[in-house]
Amino acid sequence: MADPFDLVVIGSGPGGYVCAIKAAQLGLKVAVVEKRKTYGGTCLNIGCIPSKALLYASERFEEAGHSFAELGIVAEPKLDLAAMMSHKDKTVKSNVDGIAFLFKKNKITGVIGTGRIKSAGEVEVTKDDGSTETLQARNICIATGSDVAGIPGVDVKFDDKTIVSSDHAIALDKVPEAMVVVGGGVIGLELGSVWARLGAKVTVVEYLDKVLGPMDGEVSTAFQKLLVKQGLKFHLGAKVTAVEAKDGGAAVTFEPAKGGEAETLNADVVLVATGRKPYTEGLGLEEAGVSLDNRGRVEIDQHFKTNVDGIYAIGDVVKGAMLAHKAEDEGVALAEILAGQAGHVNYDAIPSVVYTSPEVASVGKTEEELKEAGVEYKVGKFPFMANGRARAMLQTDGFVKFLVDAKTDRVLGCHILGADAGDMIAEAALLMEFGGASEDLARTSHAHPTLSEAMREAAFAAFAKPIHI
Ligand code: NAI
Repeated sequence: MADPFDLVVIGSGPGGYVCAIKAAQLGLKVAVVEKRKTYGGTCLNIGCIPSKALLYASERFEEAGHSFAELGIVAEPKLDLAAMMSHKDKTVKSNVDGIAFLFKKNKITGVIGTGRIKSAGEVEVTKDDGSTETLQARNICIATGSDVAGIPGVDVKFDDKTIVSSDHAIALDKVPEAMVVVGGGVIGLELGSVWARLGAKVTVVEYLDKVLGPMDGEVSTAFQKLLVKQGLKFHLGAKVTAVEAKDGGAAVTFEPAKGGEAETLNADVVLVATGRKPYTEGLGLEEAGVSLDNRGRVEIDQHFKTNVDGIYAIGDVVKGAMLAHKAEDEGVALAEILAGQAGHVNYDAIPSVVYTSPEVASVGKTEEELKEAGVEYKVGKFPFMANGRARAMLQTDGFVKFLVDAKTDRVLGCHILGADAGDMIAEAALLMEFGGASEDLARTSHAHPTLSEAMREAAFAAFAKPIHI
C-alpha cells in the first residue's frame, strides 16, 4: 500500500487550497480532492472572483456614461457584453491556473474527482470515467463549502436563464430589461448592481425591514438610499412566496412579512439570492459517523475537529460567516494545528465587505449588537464629503464610523460606507487584532491626501474631535 498522506483535503476553495498549501509548507504530505475540473471552489470559479470582474467592469461603464463628463472627459460608452464576460472568464482562468501552479510548487497531489469519506483514514475518489481511487489519509479535512439554499418553503425551479442563482447571474448573455432580485443580502445587492449599471431595471424584494441584515443599521439605511439614487427599487418587509416561469420570463409573488395582500412582479430574469447552505451531500458523513448540527453544518470543536478522530472541517461547511477569508484563516490555523503548532482564528476581527459602489465594509460589533449587550460605547464618525481626496475623485458618498468602549477607548467595531471601504477596513481589523484604541489610530500619521484620512478623522471623533469638520 502507498505511504498515506498526512492530510487529504476534500474541496479546493479558499478554505481547502489554503489549508493544503500551508500544511505542505509546514512539511506535511498533502493531497487535495476536487470535483470541479479546476481548483479554487465557488470563490474563484463562480463566486467572488468572477463577480468582482463584473462589478469592476460595470462600474467603469457606469462612470464613463455619467461622472466622466463632470471630470471633463466626453465619452459615449457602448456596452460589449461578450467582451465583458470574456474579461471575467480570463480573470477566472488566470486565478484557477494560479492555484494549480501553487499545488505543483508545493508538491501537493491534486486529484480531480468526487471525494467520499469511507472511514477515518480513507477517502475514495470517483473520477469522471467512473473509476475510483482510494487515498489513505492520517487526517482528513472537509472543505466542501456551500451551495445555493433556495427559498425556504418555496419550490424554485432554477432554469439557469430566467430563474437563476448567483451561479448563472454572472453569465447572462444579454442585459435583462427587468430583473427581480429575491433577497437584499450581499449577493443580491452586488449582482443586482452589476445588471442595473448595465441597463436593467432592478427591483429587490427583501424579507427583513433592511438590506444587508447583519450590517450596522445606520450604514444599511444610508447605503440603501444610495442604491435607490442609482435606480434600484426596493420592497422591504416583503416575503416571497412564489417564483414561477411566465411568458418567457418569470413572475415573483410576495406578501408583507407581517401578513397582508400579495403582489406579483414580472421580470425577464429573477435572481434568487436568499442564502447558501453547507455542502455535505454524498460525502459519506453518516457512514463515517460525523455529526452535523441542527443547521446541517459539520460540527467541530475549537480545533476544527469533528466528533471523529482524524476528521476535521473548515469554511462554509462549518459554523460562522460564509466568507472566503474566514475559510482561509481556518485553513491556515488547521494546518498549523496538524503540524503541531498553535493555530488560532480571532473571529472578533474578521472583516466583511460588500463590493458595490460605494463599498460597504465592517469589522467587529454593530451599534445594535452593543446596545443589545448593554455595552457603554462612544461613536466617532466622519463623512467622505469632508475628505479632500474623495472630492477630487467625485466619491463623496458615505462615512466612516468607529464604535469604541466608552471607558477604555478600545475599538469595538468599525463600519465604512464609501469608495475603497473594502481596502480601508484592513486598518481597523489590524487595530482590533492588536486590541487598539481609537487614539492609537488617530495618532498614527496618514498620508495626505488619501481616503484613509477619513479613518483617522473618525478615530479622532471617537476620542477627541475631528480636525476637518
Ligand atoms: P444573505 O444571507 O446575505 O442574504 C439573503 C437575504 O435573503 C436575507 O436578507 C434574507 O432576509 C432574504 N430572504 C430570505 N428568504 C426570503 C424570502 N422568502 N423573501 C424575501 N427575502 C428573503 O445571502 P446571499 O446574499 O445569498 O449570500 C450567501 C452567502 O454568501 C452569505 O453568507 C454571504 O455573506 C456570502 N457572500 C459574501 C460575499 C462578500 O463577502 N462580498 C459575496 C457573495 C456572497
